[in-house]
This record gives sequence, C-alpha cells and structure tokens, in this order.
Amino acid sequence: MNSFHQVAVETAREAGNILLAEFDRPVRISYKGEVDLVTQADQRSEQAIVARLRSHFPKHAVVAEEGGGHENVSGFRWYVDPLDGTTNFAHGYPCFAVSIGLAEKDELLVGVVFNPVSGELFSAVKGEGAFLNQKPIHVSAIETLSTSLLATGFPSHKRTQNPNIHYYWDFTLRSHGVRRDGSAALDLCSVACGRFDGFWEFGLKPWDTAAGVLIVREAGGMISDFAGRPYRLGGPEVLASNGRIHSEMQQVAADIAERATANPL
Ligand code: IPD
Ligand code: CA
Ligand code: CA
Repeated sequence: MNSFHQVAVETAREAGNILLAEFDRPVRISYKGEVDLVTQADQRSEQAIVARLRSHFPKHAVVAEEGGGHENVSGFRWYVDPLDGTTNFAHGYPCFAVSIGLAEKDELLVGVVFNPVSGELFSAVKGEGAFLNQKPIHVSAIETLSTSLLATGFPSHKRTQNPNIHYYWDFTLRSHGVRRDGSAALDLCSVACGRFDGFWEFGLKPWDTAAGVLIVREAGGMISDFAGRPYRLGGPEVLASNGRIHSEMQQVAADIAERATANPL
C-alpha cells in the first residue's frame, strides 16, 4: 500500500510542477464544449502522470480526464484529473490542483490532491487517516447548518440542464454562505480539513472525486448522495460533510426536490 501512496505523491508533485511552469506562460485554450476549456497544461500534466503510473504499475488501468489512460486486466484503477480547476487556471486564478485516486474494484485505497500554488498536498490511505503536508487533518466540529460554511460547483458541460442554482439559493439562505471555488477536488479537501463544513455538486466525474472522497472519509467526514445512499464514483450527485450537518443538508435537498415536483425547476 505504501508504495501506491508514495508513487501517487511523487506523481502529483511532478504534475504540479508542470502546472506551475505552465501557469507562468501565456495560456493556450481549446474548447471541449461551449464553455468547457482544455489547455496545454491539462495535456502535459496528464501525459506525465499516465507515463509515471504506467512505468510503476504496468498492469493497472488508468482513467484520465483528457483520454490518455488505458484499460487493463488487474482490478486496480487509477482516476486522474491532471488539472482540476482548468477555468481558474486559464483565467490566472490560482486555485487548481492535481487529483489522483486509486481504487481496487469499487474500494478507494489511496487519494492525493496537490495544489502546487499553495504547496498544500492532501493525502489519504484507506484506514490510515487523512493528512495535509503530513499533518493529520479532521473535519470540523460545526453542529448546525445555520452556522456552517459550504461549497458547491457548477459544471461547464450541459450547464443549462443543471438544477444547482436552486440548491445554491436555498443553502445560501440557510448557512453562513456558499463558496464556489472552481475545483471540486480542493473543495472536498477543504471539507476534510474543516475549512468547509459541507459540499455538494451534481454531475461530477470519477476523476473529480476519487481522491477527495477518500480524503474526506479518512478525515472523519461523511459522503453520500442526497438521499443518504452510499456515493458511487460518477453518481449523479455527491454530498460531503463533517457528518454533523449531513442530515440537515439532506433535508434541504429533499425540500427542494419536493417543491420541484409541484413546480419543475
Ligand atoms: C471542474 C471543477 C469544478 C466543477 C466542475 C468540474 P475541471 O473540473 O472541479 O469545480 O464545478 O464540475 O468539471 O474541468 O476543471 O477539471
Ligand atoms: Ca475536474
Ligand atoms: Ca480537469
């Protein structure tokens, strides 16, 4: 296990250095969708990550956002977001990360999220706790939604079909506020270390959440869908919290869903 973790950390650091070097250069943007951006940094980072993982673990599968991964027969699968927060990156907003998670079948084993601008490296190994730069981290002790700070995100793909603006409205009025930082991986890590008390988002992909979900769990947090069912990678929505405000967040979501049945969103 340690070798999986060690390689994930080294790989995230190498990719983070590539992102930092690219951040200092003029950005070259292409579009995957109407507002879905991809830059040279996403591609260079992904190439480096996939090459390193392949050289250490030739039998493992790699699922990488920009399509550079490969299938394989072993039950081990790496989920790679080479640049989580591409829109931020492209606009010079220094909030982005490399996210690398490893699962064996459906079980998350290792998660590493590295923000190369702040130098913060979040990591977890199943059953061994969560860490920020090698110091143990824990979710917050906030007990109520009304005293919580939350986060969410909005997809760039099919954004007109996303109901989240209604959730944003309700949660904003019921909490100390909702932040929208543009990196789901870092949002999850902020729940893990107690900066945020809860986070939700619709339509995230396995590479956005694999590492962060394990980091939240290992920091003592709770992860589910809005109905409280276990979260599946790539499931329709994720709800992450310190555990204490989880049922209140579920209730708000249930109220919104009920209103939407009467008056579709
Ligand atoms: C995006 C970020 C953002 C979230 C979007 C994701 P990307 O990932 O995580 O916070 O709101 O849904 O697609 O495209 O920057 O890797
Ligand atoms: Ca992402
Ligand atoms: Ca990405």
